[in-house]
Amino acid sequence: MIKYIGSKRVLVPRIVELVSGFGGDVRTVLDAFSGTSRVGHALKKAGYRVTANDHNAYAHCLGRCYVQADGARVREDALRVLAELREVKPEAGYFTETFCVQARFFHPKNGARVDAMRDRIAEMDLDPDVEAVVLTSLMEAADRVDSTCGVQMAYLKKWAPRAAKDLELRLPDIIDGEGTALMLDAADLPEAGEWDLAYLDPPYNQHKYRNNYHVWETLVRWDAPPAYGVAMKRADCKEYQSPFNRKGQIADAFADLCARLPAKRLVVSFSDEGYLPRQQILDILEPLGDVTAFDHEFKRYVGAQIGIYNPSGEKVGKVSHLQNREFIFVVDR
Ligand SMILES: C[S@@+](CC[C@H](N)C(=O)[O-])C[C@H]1O[C@@H](n2cnc3c(N)ncnc32)[C@H](O)[C@@H]1O
Repeated sequence: MIKYIGSKRVLVPRIVELVSGFGGDVRTVLDAFSGTSRVGHALKKAGYRVTANDHNAYAHCLGRCYVQADGARVREDALRVLAELREVKPEAGYFTETFCVQARFFHPKNGARVDAMRDRIAEMDLDPDVEAVVLTSLMEAADRVDSTCGVQMAYLKKWAPRAAKDLELRLPDIIDGEGTALMLDAADLPEAGEWDLAYLDPPYNQHKYRNNYHVWETLVRWDAPPAYGVAMKRADCKEYQSPFNRKGQIADAFADLCARLPAKRLVVSFSDEGYLPRQQILDILEPLGDVTAFDHEFKRYVGAQIGIYNPSGEKVGKVSHLQNREFIFVVDR
């Protein structure tokens, strides 16, 4: 899966364990801020009927691949398309010019392959779930040869060694069975269905996911948008807002969503680095039902491990801490 800030890679087994603690009372689960969809993917694997939701197009594509697509139905077609794409002749276009020349997220030789493969996918008029599987394969292949620290706000001054490798398409780990992927603002979820349990993992600070992963948004939308700045971000990054990225709005948005979501149980993830302190989260959740809280200590994301450098590559600052705590709250109403 792609590198993703705030991804619950390490916590997935714990989340599945907490959900399974409800036994047969829980069969349908909503992953309301799905990101990479790794939580929904693990829950689908564990036998739950999952709905993944995220407001960004690239995350919706991951949700269609890992949660919505029925492996038994799409696997053969996806393998056939991937085999065809591996043979497509590289041809530089918007992606190469924008993300490999103007910015340097990928080596131009891989950029030209992305351009040619993505154009071919657009021409193929594929079944939407097969298309999502193939686009996820392309996104993950590009992610393995990128030259970043895991976010697309900047690229490395010197090429990362992995950027010299050849982009290689692999079949994502799709699962047999049904699921649903939505692309809604979380505030609209209460009108979109009912679930036995909802898992909430909202953003917790000012960094917008659309900005951090703008290259994936463009790769999935394939709309060649005007781009700006050193990182060549999509022009719409400037307009796009989530109340969960705003200090003055997150508490109300979170409280409103929890109160209105038609789900009898909630499992909620937050980090101690976020806008909402632990006690404030408890104050929001406790009126809704019985709350149990769990804390987990983790190493911080790779940027914090590496340190703070100026544009000339000199170490300039001190990282304040290398550990962070993740909170999980379980609410039974
Ligand atoms: C912390 S990440 C989720 C990570 C995910 N659990 C994983 O393990 O990969 C938060 C996600 O919320 C999405 N998001 C932010 N604001 C949103 C909103 N208002 N409605 C829906 N999704 C939103 C972001 O695009 C991002 O993918």
